[in-house]
Amino acid sequence: MTAQIAVIPGDGIGQEVTPAAVDVLKELDLGFEFVEGEAGDYVLEEAGTPLPEETADLARESDATLFGAAGETAADVILPLREIVGSYANVRPAKAYPGLEAVKPETDIVFIRENTQGVYSGIEEEIADGVATLTRVVTRDASRKIAEYGFDYAEEHGYENVTIAHKANVMRKTDGLFLETAEQVAQERGVDYETELMDALAMKLVMNPEDYDVIICPNLAGDVLSDLAAGLVGGLGLLPSANVGDDNALFEPVHGSAPDIAGQGVANPSAMILSAAMLLDHLDYDGEATRVTEAVETVLAEGPHTADLGGDASTEEFTAAVIDHL
Ligand code: NAI
Ligand code: MG
Repeated sequence: MTAQIAVIPGDGIGQEVTPAAVDVLKELDLGFEFVEGEAGDYVLEEAGTPLPEETADLARESDATLFGAAGETAADVILPLREIVGSYANVRPAKAYPGLEAVKPETDIVFIRENTQGVYSGIEEEIADGVATLTRVVTRDASRKIAEYGFDYAEEHGYENVTIAHKANVMRKTDGLFLETAEQVAQERGVDYETELMDALAMKLVMNPEDYDVIICPNLAGDVLSDLAAGLVGGLGLLPSANVGDDNALFEPVHGSAPDIAGQGVANPSAMILSAAMLLDHLDYDGEATRVTEAVETVLAEGPHTADLGGDASTEEFTAAVIDHL
């Protein structure tokens, strides 16, 4: 089977780091067909929308999408794209790489964040002047789906500890359902797990991130806690992510279009290349995913480094070094 990969570089450094990731994937010679789509600020000027219908269709019809970053139009590009690929799981690894500065060098955590519900349900209303409400939606089906994904992920990737984050002591019905369903999934499988109140977990993550491997989270908790962990490992240029659905998925770095360095060819392509490694893993090219991840880790450990990590390598030089180590 050859897979079609939609490639949407977007704005700013998206235009620089996305080709780097594609070059790495091409080097593996897996017969992927890469089809490029346009989205972002620059498209808004030409097409009147930052996400033209043909780009949306491309993402819908492809086996997976690689997305760089958008600028001011980010919300109007990435939120619809995540919906188009039907992603219910947002996978955000936060890992400290050997040889680089990190607040907590022992950190190696993967957040499995529910991507469709909770306080991001979009059901929000100003019911009277000065009074606004939000409906927090949690369903057993969605909770089961994210829990199953999280426990599968831990097993497939050899992570021992699975933690379920929640605030069911206060949000008894909604997080209660989330927690109960996730615990049920663990019990059906006969696997060990921990539960943590999300606020206490925030503190423990700062103090002892090495205690945690895979953390299954409701939407808002996953958003906040994963950003917190990103701070422990330092450097937006290093953090990849995946938005996973049943038949489709989208892979993107956590960072944005970085207008302050765009156009200079100095962006760190690690986050984007590691996102491509997550794409490989998702398409069951496990061995290739490991090769790419290890090649990036080797270059991060030995250099050359891009400017954000104190080096003077260009995006292209860093990418060439990764390809060298494949
Ligand atoms: P940003 O992530 O673009 O940049 C923050 C800082 O990190 C900047 O100093 C930038 O130079 C640096 N940085 C980020 N990625 C880097 C890389 N790969 N290598 C080296 N340095 C890197 O976030 P910011 O500045 O808040 O937003 C800039 C634009 O990006 C805004 O228009 C925002 O809307 C958009 N954005 C888009 C996102 C997306 O498409 N998913 C996500 C976040 C922001
Ligand atoms: Mg966030």
